[in-house]
Amino acid sequence: MKLNIAVLPGDGIGPEVTAQAVKVLKAIAMEFGHVFTFNKALVGASAIDKTGNPLPEETISICEKADAILFGAIGSAKYDMDPDAKIRPEQGLLGLRKSLDLFANIRPVIAYEDLLNMSSLKIKQIRDTNILIYRELNGGLYFGEKKLTNDNASDICEYSRFEIERIAHLAFKAAQSRKGKLTLVDKANALASSRLWRKVVKELATQYPNVKLNFMYIDNAARELIINPRQFDVILTENMFGDILSEEASVIVGSIGLLGSASINDKHAMFEPIHGANDEFKNKGVANPIASILSAAMLLDHFGLDIEAALVRKAVDKSLKLHITTPDLNMKYDNISTTKVGDFIEDFINNPEETNLN
Ligand code: IPM
Repeated sequence: MKLNIAVLPGDGIGPEVTAQAVKVLKAIAMEFGHVFTFNKALVGASAIDKTGNPLPEETISICEKADAILFGAIGSAKYDMDPDAKIRPEQGLLGLRKSLDLFANIRPVIAYEDLLNMSSLKIKQIRDTNILIYRELNGGLYFGEKKLTNDNASDICEYSRFEIERIAHLAFKAAQSRKGKLTLVDKANALASSRLWRKVVKELATQYPNVKLNFMYIDNAARELIINPRQFDVILTENMFGDILSEEASVIVGSIGLLGSASINDKHAMFEPIHGANDEFKNKGVANPIASILSAAMLLDHFGLDIEAALVRKAVDKSLKLHITTPDLNMKYDNISTTKVGDFIEDFINNPEETNLN
């Protein structure tokens, strides 16, 4: 298969982890005879530094032409404490999601048997957790009208039936292919937008009689996710709630450095770790590349390259089993770098039978 992949490493640890994912994709291409071409583009704080724009036209054009986008991370401490900054790194990511209409953000949360004791939660509570979060990505508070003055500020949370329906269909279909359970997380006791979500999703449920639909308020879901994560199969939720819940869910898995994601529509697809740029860890070799590598596995899934994706996941599992992990997981060895994890996974792909620590 030929794939033209746009690579947007972004800021902070983004370039380091993305380099490992590219390495893994190259190994897959080599092993299976695919032709993957990679086109780098600027985004975020690094794009502001070079061009003054967090999302240069050229980046949009490279992404529009690409079959898929591999995204690193975005953000920089220097903008975080300046509420008046008009140009912000995050506009790069949000602008890209919006301009390509990447409305469905899919975030798998899987508790690895070998990492159960890395979580701060009790093993018996988290074992066998396997959740797929469908986060609406182009609406809600993030994109509603915004006002900010010295004394007053507002963000409007608005959703249309169309926006809810298109992601809800995807979530119902995902539930059909899994355990058949869909949980809509909302705040319908307080928010009008949530009441529309409930109404629309309830209506759609009649088209998916084999999916068991339930509803949960976000405050309750935040607690249930920690005390009984196994009850969830597919979670569907709006933009902001999905952002928060998926970050919370990383506690189950043991590190936020393990969660990848896909942001898709019919035409475009972007794959990115759910973690941020973490400037403080930049260029120290400590960033966990697994979230980026698992995002690359989702890219392979997206194009039906199931065997290839399975091999990447097998390599990741093996690295975790052998404790070839970065310091965030605080396992057996404390000096395994970002690159070394990537190298191990690459070697495993090149030679699945022989790979070992050395
Ligand atoms: C994420 C991030 C982004 C979001 C930020 C960087 C704007 O937290 O992808 O989850 O909130 O969507």
